Amino acid sequence: MTETLENKSTYAIRHAKVLEWVDEVARLCKPDRVRWCDGSKEEYDELCNLLVEKGTFIRLNPEKRPNSFACFSDPSDVARVEDRTFICSRRKEDAGPTNNWVDPKEMKQTLDRLMDGAMAGRTMYVIPFSMGPIGSPMAQIGIEITDSEYVVVNMHIMTRVGKRVMDVLGPDGEFVKCLHSVGAPLKPGQPDSKWPTNPTTKYIVHYPEERSIVSYGSGYGGNALLGKKCFALRIASAMAREEGWLAEHMLILGVENPQGKKTYVAAAFPSACGKTNFAMLIPPKEMEGWKVTTVGDDIAWIKPGEDGRLYAINPEYGYFGVAPGTNEKTNPNAMRTISRNTIFTNVAITEDGDVWWEGMTKEPPKNLINWKGQKHDPSSGQPAAHPNARFTAPASQCPSIDPEWENPNGVPIGAFIFGGRRSTTIPLIYQAHNWNYGVYLAATMGSEMTAAAFGEIGKVRRDPFAMLPFCGYHMGDYFNHWLQFGRDIPNPPRIFGVNWFRKDEQGNFIWPGFGENMRVLRWVVEKISGQTNAVESPIGWMPSYDDIDWRGLDFSREDFDRLMSIDREQWKQELLAHAELFERMYDRLPKEFIFMRELLLSSLWRSPEKWSLEPER
Ligand code: GTP
Ligand code: SPV
Ligand code: MN
Repeated sequence: MTETLENKSTYAIRHAKVLEWVDEVARLCKPDRVRWCDGSKEEYDELCNLLVEKGTFIRLNPEKRPNSFACFSDPSDVARVEDRTFICSRRKEDAGPTNNWVDPKEMKQTLDRLMDGAMAGRTMYVIPFSMGPIGSPMAQIGIEITDSEYVVVNMHIMTRVGKRVMDVLGPDGEFVKCLHSVGAPLKPGQPDSKWPTNPTTKYIVHYPEERSIVSYGSGYGGNALLGKKCFALRIASAMAREEGWLAEHMLILGVENPQGKKTYVAAAFPSACGKTNFAMLIPPKEMEGWKVTTVGDDIAWIKPGEDGRLYAINPEYGYFGVAPGTNEKTNPNAMRTISRNTIFTNVAITEDGDVWWEGMTKEPPKNLINWKGQKHDPSSGQPAAHPNARFTAPASQCPSIDPEWENPNGVPIGAFIFGGRRSTTIPLIYQAHNWNYGVYLAATMGSEMTAAAFGEIGKVRRDPFAMLPFCGYHMGDYFNHWLQFGRDIPNPPRIFGVNWFRKDEQGNFIWPGFGENMRVLRWVVEKISGQTNAVESPIGWMPSYDDIDWRGLDFSREDFDRLMSIDREQWKQELLAHAELFERMYDRLPKEFIFMRELLLSSLWRSPEKWSLEPER
């Protein structure tokens, strides 16, 4: 270690490669001091206090929100930056047409230049973390080096951190190098900003062959908490392909029926399309005896077990959830989860030191401070909370947490569900006839864009498997990996498509959603165990009105039909969009997809122009 540098650790580090790498990074980034994180509560409290001192954190009213903090990011740093995210595989073809690519040699030169002195005036933190329960055969270890206290305390919540991870790593265990800097070095005496960031230069870079990550210039969410999207999805998806498993943008939930039988389901929805809500669903009270439990809300790592079934773990330890829209009705479990020990980013703050966001209550409370730190003007038409405002909260605080959520061997998956945000075309629920068609359905998923990512809000984009921004290699190879994965297991889970977001002519959601999604979930779990019926539609199996449990909900046959109908004209457009996606990756596209598209087309042409569950009504 650079001799003069203060280098603090409460435990001995015996891993030579870790020491060597940390030393190398310290020489390059030139921080004022180095500190190894031990993952203790004392460390968490100390850094939160430091963030309060710096003005980054505002301590919330301890009576309303014990041990919780709010902070406002720089307005230039509010979400993942997909256009600044790179997969730097050695060969461009291996990153594929859906990823940004730069030659790794060139990228390293650029980043070395940027990182040179990037941490001046700051502390460099070394955070050993485990994705997955510590010591689980499905877990992986990473070490994040960062110059952001905000990142350290968020990593404490989102991952398992500290000395115990170094113990598992031993003297020579494998780890993923995760280097992060906010890209805002301080000159001697220069005052720090409350949200240090680099307003002009951001790079989120992955080297899949080396299994390493370098992130520069952003302090927000998936750009900076490198265990999450960068490691657990982009790097892990590349590892998974090589090693025969799956790393997916999926929630994992358990469904218990009134007889106590449990089925686990994994579901992929794009960013800000309802994973957290679905994972924490509370069934309508009239559906007595049905219960949903939460294993994870964003990421699933899935491996075949010795019994031929698929087993999934949630590699994360907390939730980094969308705040706007979360309330006592839409997600009571999330509201309980964030009642204490929570960090809020870009929400509004109330007079009495609590938090607020659009959708929490109908009317905003008076005298809010908005996410820009200014007095909120309700007549301005501007929201008080940023649309991608988030909470960071420990998973263990979720009232619906599944008793098996930390099972090192994972939970067995009975079904996969895929769903985007679509105001037209896609029905509420349908089932693929078989694995291959299910993979096709997931691969061609489209979704209207949200504020969780950079892009034109509301525009439909293809988001295969909800993995478009997260697949660490060629998307065509990814499809082939999924197809092969299904061939290799004796009885792969059934695959379903859902759409909670279909709208009527007035632009209102037809389906009430949230807890009512339990009615769809019940059909799914009963369908896979052969306990319910289905109708064959031009695009797959569907429940008829009478196959759905309607107890406690007044929902008409006509409205159900509007959610489930299939309009040939709309589907023609849909299939054109599939073809556009396929053309982008034709060289590595599974040839099965071409046939499946043809089959769909002919099936649609054999059906009425407006196919409906109840044609005679
Ligand atoms: P990431 O954390 O970005 O990966 O997203 P997520 O999929 O976990 O998103 P989340 O569950 O936080 O979704 C938030 C948005 O989806 C909010 O705008 C919710 O109001 C909306 N939402 C969730 N479930 C439903 C539903 O069943 N119906 C409708 N209409 N909206 C929903
Ligand atoms: C997403 O965008 O899918 C998220 C939030 O889960 S972030 O971690 O910021 O990517
Ligand atoms: Mn996500």
